[in-house]
Amino acid sequence: MRRKGNRQNRPMLDLFPDSARVEHGEVTLGRIGASTLAKRYGTPLVVYCEDTLRQQARALRTAAGDDGQVFYGTKAFPNVALLRLFREEGIGADVAAAGELAFARAAGLSGAELVVHGNNKDEPLLAGAAAERASVALDAPDEAALVSAAGIDRVLVRVTLGVDADTHEAIRTGHHGSKFGLPPDQAQIVVADALARGLDVLGLHVHVGSQLPDFTAQAETIRRLAAFAAACRESLGWEARVANLGGGFGVKHHPDDDVPDPAELAWSAAVTARAAFNAVGLPTPSVWLEPGRSLVGRAGVTLYRVGSVKRLEQRSWVAVDGGMSDNPRPQLYGARYTAVSAFRAGEVPDELVSVAGMHCESGDVLIDDVSLPSPRRDDLLAVPATGAYTLAMSSNYNGVTRPAAVLVRDGDAELIRRRETIDDLLALEV
Ligand SMILES: Cc1ncc(COP(=O)(O)O)c(C=O)c1O
Repeated sequence: MRRKGNRQNRPMLDLFPDSARVEHGEVTLGRIGASTLAKRYGTPLVVYCEDTLRQQARALRTAAGDDGQVFYGTKAFPNVALLRLFREEGIGADVAAAGELAFARAAGLSGAELVVHGNNKDEPLLAGAAAERASVALDAPDEAALVSAAGIDRVLVRVTLGVDADTHEAIRTGHHGSKFGLPPDQAQIVVADALARGLDVLGLHVHVGSQLPDFTAQAETIRRLAAFAAACRESLGWEARVANLGGGFGVKHHPDDDVPDPAELAWSAAVTARAAFNAVGLPTPSVWLEPGRSLVGRAGVTLYRVGSVKRLEQRSWVAVDGGMSDNPRPQLYGARYTAVSAFRAGEVPDELVSVAGMHCESGDVLIDDVSLPSPRRDDLLAVPATGAYTLAMSSNYNGVTRPAAVLVRDGDAELIRRRETIDDLLALEV
């Protein structure tokens, strides 16, 4: 059941999860006030909206089509509760390291629910993949040999087709010279090698980049993928049954971002891939998708407590109790965020400020420019679209402990990751 809440306040909450409202001047998530969540669990706190996660999961499942499959790009936020929730929605997991595989296993995922990636897979990852009978995407010239020695029997081959996606260079992966995948001539040798070793080569994998702003790069990648699949059939007599298109569907982090709906992009990708394979005379492939950011990005909101406020001639600084340790994306990718004053959301945002983190780096700036109602110590800031690649990339810089995460729905909150303690940090010291 969806509560109507204060719908007229939705524009300021555009980037927030579906359940976000402003009620009596306060942001609520899953019908719980931001102040209540902050008081109960402390700050910084990453709050995930269950309705949004499920709604995105369903939209992406539909986009993949009846014969398709969706695997959560676990790297966006490895979390057992979320992996379990996605499993309930018929979504598997794409994992790229033994640790991510451990999260997926703990959530009960196994076999055909798992795809293993990595440009340099280590022994524990391969052993885990074999134990779980996961599908493995081959990504290096000698990997068919490694994988078959490890006892893995189901593989894909990751091909890099020389397409430059219009996204930050750190998350561009399908260009010539990329460290990921293999160019077509080498990928074809790997397909042949895997077949010669008796592996079940299910199909081909591509992932052109993350936070894609439109369909251009994927459309070109799919066109080249179909041509490559046709070339494989021509020279090896092998037909790809699976077209794994990876993830990459973008999410709006800032009001100025112009990003299409991820499920629509995913749907276009799936339809285009099926048609492209048919156009070169290949049977309709099963389309696999590996969305990470688009599954969890918009579902997550980070709550920070405001500490010091400095009004300088050049700039006004509002410092919060986190920063680059819980969200390094501004520093890594120039990511831009916005914020709402969580329990003063009814007040006019009349002051332009910068939001700084608490770390010993001048570059630790979470938000360059945002208008807030004249900020003061103990305010609570809600930063939307922070569900992906934030906690997953977090650190203990300055000995800061990682935040907790909670899942909210219909007035209930469930802790899905506890806050780290100083004792956790000291436990690693010998
Ligand atoms: C192979 C593969 N699949 C899926 C993803 C998830 O991408 P996104 O979070 O942009 O959807 C990535 C991200 O790096 C990836 O490398």
